[in-house]
Amino acid sequence: MKKCFALAGIAMMAMGMTFAQGAQEASMASSADANKLVLDGMAPSGDLEIFSWWAGDEGPALAAMVADYEGKNPDVNLINATVTGGSGVNAKAVLKTRMLNNDPPESFQVHAGQELIGTWVDSNRMYDLTPIFEDQGWMDAFPSDLIDLIGTDDGIWSVPVCVHKSNVAWYIPANLKKWGVTVPTTLDEFFMVADKLQAQGIIPLSMGQTWTATENWENVALATLGPDDYNNLWNGKLAWTDPKVVKIWENFGKLLMYTNKDSSSLSWQQATDMVVNGQAAFNWHGDWAAGYMMTTLGLEPGTGFGWANTPGTDGVFQFLSDSFGIPLGCKNLDAAISWVEECGSKSGQDAFNPLKGSIAARTDTDLSLYSAYSQSAAKDFANDVIVGSLAHGVVANEGFMNDFSSVIEQFMSSKDANQAAAACAEIAASNGMN
Ligand code: GAL
Repeated sequence: MKKCFALAGIAMMAMGMTFAQGAQEASMASSADANKLVLDGMAPSGDLEIFSWWAGDEGPALAAMVADYEGKNPDVNLINATVTGGSGVNAKAVLKTRMLNNDPPESFQVHAGQELIGTWVDSNRMYDLTPIFEDQGWMDAFPSDLIDLIGTDDGIWSVPVCVHKSNVAWYIPANLKKWGVTVPTTLDEFFMVADKLQAQGIIPLSMGQTWTATENWENVALATLGPDDYNNLWNGKLAWTDPKVVKIWENFGKLLMYTNKDSSSLSWQQATDMVVNGQAAFNWHGDWAAGYMMTTLGLEPGTGFGWANTPGTDGVFQFLSDSFGIPLGCKNLDAAISWVEECGSKSGQDAFNPLKGSIAARTDTDLSLYSAYSQSAAKDFANDVIVGSLAHGVVANEGFMNDFSSVIEQFMSSKDANQAAAACAEIAASNGMN
């Protein structure tokens, strides 16, 4: 059946079909059995290509997990293929081309949730990893809600490595003191603090390229709607054109008045640097920023940098999880299995996450290995209401995420809240969301 899959992929390229059309074709050409893994217990050897966007500043965490893997699998030649660009902006496009050309890596990084299910599983491109979960005893090692996010009625499709939080406001405590402001806890408070900062020539909120603006939009959406209606936006119960949703865009438009003008040309690290260098007061960003400030910049959590929930989101953890799956057509299945086993292992997760700023996806992690920041995130994850991130693929498939970037870009110049709301209703429908 793997052959049918390959033929469908090649035919699709020749016919110039779209990815969605091609995916449908591939799915028709495969049988359910093509996804089933059989664990043969063979020691892996040969080449293993893993694919992610964890390069540069995000490289050390992955390198630590790779070292742990290599210690356990001496006969495997691990090829660490990375494509730079935060949040996979470039990697995802390269991956798509490779998948369409039937040249997949053995395993690739993908966000748990709709990015995995609505993009790769619905188009029947992945192996069902249920036998690995059963063999490794993982049904009890991961939170059941997380397993639900990577599973369907037909299987479990990836292995979560970490849990990141996206609604974090980062700041330098000594700078806030110097500027005479405290950390705002509501959006209204933020706007008041922002006026005070602007009057002193300080940029209230640093922002980077579009996907980081999407993250800030999802922070504002959560603050504006609260967790129940935020979830209703993704389950179809709250219309995109509802006045409550239009209000998100109005608040987001106001927020943009307090951000740097060169945001579209800045990486997420450069936006974080603006806070560290004292040009900006806050950066709202996922907690890989903690990894960057600790691992690359050598700052101490608590004194070197501070953190709080983004305004209006106290008690809520906006969540995302990076995971690795195995694509159909992978050339070295034994090695691919051994890699995802590493991703789900306690030693792998405790090597990776302390450097990354994330917490382990497993529930039996050794928290003494983690920073003060991560320990506080672990507490939040255990106690808070959990909602999914849009920018990082939990609540929406890749088609919607890509189209949403265009809506954000358009909004940044038009500031037309009603137009943005109507555009979202259209892209939700065209991407099969509501
Ligand atoms: C996210 C990913 C994080 C981090 C971030 C910046 O999408 O989930 O692990 O890599 O992008 O690149």
